[in-house]
Amino acid sequence: MKVLVIGGGGREHAICWKLAQSPRVTELVCAPGNAGIAETARCVDIGVMDFEKMADFAKKEAFDLVVVGPDDPLAAGIVDVLEEAGLRVFGPRKNAAILEGSKAFSKDLMKKYGIPTAAYETFDTPEAALAYLETAKVPVVLKADGLALGKGVLICNTREEAREGVKTLMLDKQFGRAGDRIVVEEFLTGREVSVLSFVDGKTIKIMTSAQDHKRAKDGDEGLNTGGMGTFSPSPFYTPETHAFCREHIYQATVDAMRAEGREFKGIIFFGLMLTAEGPKVLEYNARFGDPETQVVLPRMKNDILDVFEACVDGTLDKVELEFADNAAVCVVLASDGYPEHYEKGFVIEGLENFKDKDGYWVFHAGSKFDAAGNIVTNGGRVLGVTATGKDLKEARKNAYAATEWVDFANKYMRHDIGKAIDEV
Ligand code: AMP
Ligand code: GLY
Repeated sequence: MKVLVIGGGGREHAICWKLAQSPRVTELVCAPGNAGIAETARCVDIGVMDFEKMADFAKKEAFDLVVVGPDDPLAAGIVDVLEEAGLRVFGPRKNAAILEGSKAFSKDLMKKYGIPTAAYETFDTPEAALAYLETAKVPVVLKADGLALGKGVLICNTREEAREGVKTLMLDKQFGRAGDRIVVEEFLTGREVSVLSFVDGKTIKIMTSAQDHKRAKDGDEGLNTGGMGTFSPSPFYTPETHAFCREHIYQATVDAMRAEGREFKGIIFFGLMLTAEGPKVLEYNARFGDPETQVVLPRMKNDILDVFEACVDGTLDKVELEFADNAAVCVVLASDGYPEHYEKGFVIEGLENFKDKDGYWVFHAGSKFDAAGNIVTNGGRVLGVTATGKDLKEARKNAYAATEWVDFANKYMRHDIGKAIDEV
């Protein structure tokens, strides 16, 4: 089968690596891809938001399956456009991708169907939000309704911070139209877990759990980022937690979307908070997590092409997902200054050290070839170094050892990815 993957980050590198393991994949293409993905797939320079060009290309090349990675094109309806062009696509249509694309939608859905989540109110004007905040309990959480690169969430410890937050989101429009409407939410405490799942419209199959580290600096300090590192499984995601989520969250979400006439096919990523009152949904994503994918897929035993096809065909009930009884840790190597100001274009050295090393991966998040053919840094997050081990501690030791195998100017990483493991 000829498969096209859309995207060009670490998540798509992991998806391409996994697809390349399938004996049924005869040709793999990625648009736009990156310098790391180029090792396993032919990269074609088409932007993920250039739907027309993407559809023309995909039709001309007659792909048997298209897999969409990132949130922005999903929310904007790339699946609908590709399907109209006659292609077979893995990913939610626009009317289902709204599960991630609008926080107000997902909160209303959870409320309507009794899915546990933080209490909230939605506001369309800054005046109404400010009036509400005069009496709201602090800390309080403000969320831009639309997509904001994972950065449209403000945790406000005081009323003054909350007022400032409304200004940032709704008046200064720091995240553009995403902040036209905001959700004001109760502040929850607990451990966060990422749970990814495959969905075929009716059936949902849960993957192994993972935990991300969203803040830029050690000790969960600094700004929110796309994710600085992950580990899988989460030792805090117990069988009891899983049973609760199965009963109250997972299938309930899929059924709710169907009941709303928004059948969801693709990946649902549940961002959960394990609170004292039980697990609650912090957010849904309509795609694989980044860098969760970089620890989940290396542990998955199934041929991912079979699973993608089962989701598209509505036969996921026939699939049993299998994960290795091991652990994985991914440490993101970023360019110093990320997520604010950072430089690009530094030569990356040592990538060859990962060749033929079982249990070690270097997934490229932001890299490209320069004019001289060198692989250079091309983003805030540059590489994701993943290693497996028999348990989390061994995986962490291996991953941190492997971070030393590569180098580039301004290389920055957190040194406490997986620190929570020590508390178990
Ligand atoms: P989200 O994009 O909704 O996942 O939010 C980004 C991050 O903000 C989450 O991973 C949490 O760390 C934090 N967060 C979001 N909602 C809440 C909440 N209601 N209470 C506490 N922290 C939250
Ligand atoms: N790592 C969090 C996300 O993909 O949204």
